[in-house]
Amino acid sequence: MNTFELSPSSLGYFVFNATNLNSWKEFAVDIIGMHLADEQEGSRLLLRLDDRAQRFIFEQSDEDDLAAVGWEFDTEQELENIVAHIKSEGVSIELASNELCINRCVEKLYTCMDPNGVQHELYFAPAFAALKEPFNSPVMLGDFIAGKLGAGHYVSVTQDAAATEHFFLNILCLRLSDYIRAELGPGGPLLDTTFLHTKTGRHHSAAFAAMPFPKKLHHVMIQVENMNDVGLAYDRCKQANLPIVMELGHHPNDQMFSFYVQTPGGFVLEFGWGGIVIDDNDWSVKSYSQLSDWGHQQPVS
Ligand SMILES: [Fe+2]
Repeated sequence: MNTFELSPSSLGYFVFNATNLNSWKEFAVDIIGMHLADEQEGSRLLLRLDDRAQRFIFEQSDEDDLAAVGWEFDTEQELENIVAHIKSEGVSIELASNELCINRCVEKLYTCMDPNGVQHELYFAPAFAALKEPFNSPVMLGDFIAGKLGAGHYVSVTQDAAATEHFFLNILCLRLSDYIRAELGPGGPLLDTTFLHTKTGRHHSAAFAAMPFPKKLHHVMIQVENMNDVGLAYDRCKQANLPIVMELGHHPNDQMFSFYVQTPGGFVLEFGWGGIVIDDNDWSVKSYSQLSDWGHQQPVS
């Protein structure tokens, strides 16, 4: 079986270490509009984007960063196929405990580490929320775009781009979307970012770049179906005096209209609309020379 066929179906969930769960709850629920699924005081905060039991998992910690990402497979056979592939590549991958499966709300789970210290959790059969508890954002007009496309995307900060590319393409079997090589701000360092997608084709579920940033995670993106929810979320962030990292703008590769705000974790959240879905039968990999085709300026302080 070639690596193309072994690709995950989607990025199903994010797990973050967090020093202050209360500030995350205020930010993610009241400002961003996620649905509070459950909270265990001083221990865990669980948030929904759709009909799944949980998509964003926060665990009390002494650091603020990405801890793990969950990669979803449609069947147990597909999961076992990629696990056999990863083992054949000489990479360590472990069957997770029943306790971790319950924690992640999945039936079966394997874990392995990437070169950047992020745990990758490969699973099948995620739990859905009860029908009597439909997704309900406290502040949004419409819904998040999740479902089979997954929770969103993230950009991983790496010190070893070659090892990370090997892990994502040849071990995890993600599919190459495109590249952007552009200056990070006027006169800034050249940022070389690689974008990768899964079987269900969200333009990218993961991307990586070597950049000067103090965390493993540069940003995580969530996408909405109603463009007005981007503007309304932007207004809520401004009213709450949250630091806008990049103003409203548009990316040339995934066609995302978005803004970027700093989170309580010190990394960034991209709030977007309009990102494209890749059809692998009609896709060619390109390299772009700009991060944004309009906007996304850093605010003048
Ligand atoms: Fe992004």
